[in-house]
Amino acid sequence: MTDVHPAWLPPEAFRAIGSRRVLVHGDGPLAGTVRDEVARACARFGGSLCDGGEADLVLATSDHLPAHARAVLYGEEAGETGAAPGGDEAFPTGRRDRMTGTPDGDENFLVGRRGGVTVVAGEGAGLLYGLFHVVRLGERAFGADFPAERHRPAMRRRMLDHWDNVDVHPVMGQVERGYAGGSIFWADGGPRGDLDRVRAYGRLLAAAGVNAVAVNNVNVHATEARLLTDRLGDVAALAGALRPYGIRVHLSVTFAAPVVLGGLSTADPLDEDVRAWWAGATARVYEAIPDFGGYLVKADSEGQPGPFAYGRSHADGANLLAGALAPYGGVVHWRAFVYDHRQDWRDRSTDRARAAYDHFAPLDGEFAGNAILQVKHGPIDFQVREPVSPVIAAMPRTRLAVELQVTQEYTGQQRHVCYLAPMWREVLGFEPWGPGGRTVAGVAGELVAVSNAGDDPYWTGHPLAQANLYAFGRLAWDPGLGPAEILDEWIGLTFPDTADRLREPLHAIMNGSWETYERYTAPLGVGFMVRPGHHYGPDVDGYEYTPWGTYHFADRDGVGVDRTRATGTGCTGQYPEPWSEVYESAERCPDELLLFFHHVPYGHVLHSGKTVIQHIYDTHFAGAEEVAELRPVWDGLVGLVDPALHARVRELLDEQLRSAREWRDQINTYFFRKSGVPDAHGRRIH
Ligand code: GCU
Repeated sequence: MTDVHPAWLPPEAFRAIGSRRVLVHGDGPLAGTVRDEVARACARFGGSLCDGGEADLVLATSDHLPAHARAVLYGEEAGETGAAPGGDEAFPTGRRDRMTGTPDGDENFLVGRRGGVTVVAGEGAGLLYGLFHVVRLGERAFGADFPAERHRPAMRRRMLDHWDNVDVHPVMGQVERGYAGGSIFWADGGPRGDLDRVRAYGRLLAAAGVNAVAVNNVNVHATEARLLTDRLGDVAALAGALRPYGIRVHLSVTFAAPVVLGGLSTADPLDEDVRAWWAGATARVYEAIPDFGGYLVKADSEGQPGPFAYGRSHADGANLLAGALAPYGGVVHWRAFVYDHRQDWRDRSTDRARAAYDHFAPLDGEFAGNAILQVKHGPIDFQVREPVSPVIAAMPRTRLAVELQVTQEYTGQQRHVCYLAPMWREVLGFEPWGPGGRTVAGVAGELVAVSNAGDDPYWTGHPLAQANLYAFGRLAWDPGLGPAEILDEWIGLTFPDTADRLREPLHAIMNGSWETYERYTAPLGVGFMVRPGHHYGPDVDGYEYTPWGTYHFADRDGVGVDRTRATGTGCTGQYPEPWSEVYESAERCPDELLLFFHHVPYGHVLHSGKTVIQHIYDTHFAGAEEVAELRPVWDGLVGLVDPALHARVRELLDEQLRSAREWRDQINTYFFRKSGVPDAHGRRIH
């Protein structure tokens, strides 16, 4: 483990706790994890794990809270009587989790400080989250008194999907769209066998608030299919390593499993034998992994099998698996990423952006209670700028998870600095029914993301991409957090000794990096323009005449996709008001989404006052300029971060600059040649 970067949990992050007298009281495995964490910190920083008496910090489950600690949280009276006035808010006695017997509220914690004692109370994972909260506070946890605060996650499930293959895939490699080396879980056809690394990953994720992980790729190939059956032991081993951190394991399964694994002649969701097969397979999974989270399914999408082959709906498909999981409290995540990837580029009526809504909105209300529809945040595919998916507002009677992509497939592949929290914050705060209405975060019960972690020593390839993984967990816990605030936390934890001097330059490099990336890549929401296949670097027409449904339609007069009801594909009509009207109108549509919804002439004037063509030139020159400014800032940090980390980022910044200039020149040249309109400022275009 020594060669692996500690990310946001270096030993120094535990200094404030480790130098104090700490009481940990509680039963159960997660209380044990808390005790181990504290013991390790105290051994390093000279504090002590005490059994009773005077303590500076008390961490306890509700039934083990000493009276004086109870008084800190609930007042003197409660301390004396041993009861919380008006019931114990932290621990609602609601439905109990079938698997663990712990209440639903077991991720909550209370924290307060009075009279020189800081107290954290929480059940199960709540106690662990409370510990990491104190780690984040550092010395502030032991300063002035503060009244008891209750913390609980906004999203019930905060999940990372790993697109990891067991066998190295001939095209996609060990990790599909992975930019951080191999898999943490798998290598060369079997388990990677480094459970210490898996535990360290679980610990990092718990500190960010993540509580579920899917351990294999949604594209389930032959070997990976067998994780459900004869390779189940490998999954159980991962579950064992992640359990002490409150993380449940989920598995991507192939819809064709009854055929490919069970030898049946059909996988028809309404077939009795198929149901029985899933019931049996699922029973065996729960025998091996009693707290197994559930299945994740990509069906009828990009070549994966699904219910369409049997003339059945996606609700039929999802409910089949939901039925098998229900007796054990498991869930199925059913992905809404369903579209025709073999479309004819000549056919202007088929619109990939419409597909998820067209397939799923009519099925609202038909999904089982433990089926969760997992919807990519935008209608197409994790582009640097997309509107929010219309599916999110269209399915009030369906449990929804919003899916983000932490792995930077379309946002610089962890070679470019691109801090994504500002984008995610925008998505989560978007109000599908207009200002003052519910937000995306309010509609979705869960947040899911494709992980960016791998066996790279920095976990994420680009060391600064660690901040994206951290930010994902934090936003899933509290979508109201500000991106800069989260970045600040990350800086403080990751670089505890030099954080004060690093804050300003790191904010300068990272805060606006998503918008910078947008400036030098595909303009105004039009998307793609990447190299086909690996998706890195510019290739404006790379996908223009392919079956993938991702076109920009640039010609000599204009650019963009007409998705209006009036003259285009009608996609704008999938949104509720006011957005259906706002997006329909080229005048009212927000600039950054103009080319997503409209095909406009190059001379079209944006709200910014610029023409589209001049905007393209200006943003591409500006974006590449902004990248050029990063290197000198980073060079100024020599000595403030580990030399190897410094060198890694420096190299990557050079690649980012090369790539940003390539993007700038290809995009500008392409549009200059198409339009014949010169740059108003006479800059060099090739
Ligand atoms: C993108 C990505 C694929 C992935 C797919 C998905 O299209 O390029 O590699 O399989 O998304 O989300 O399923």
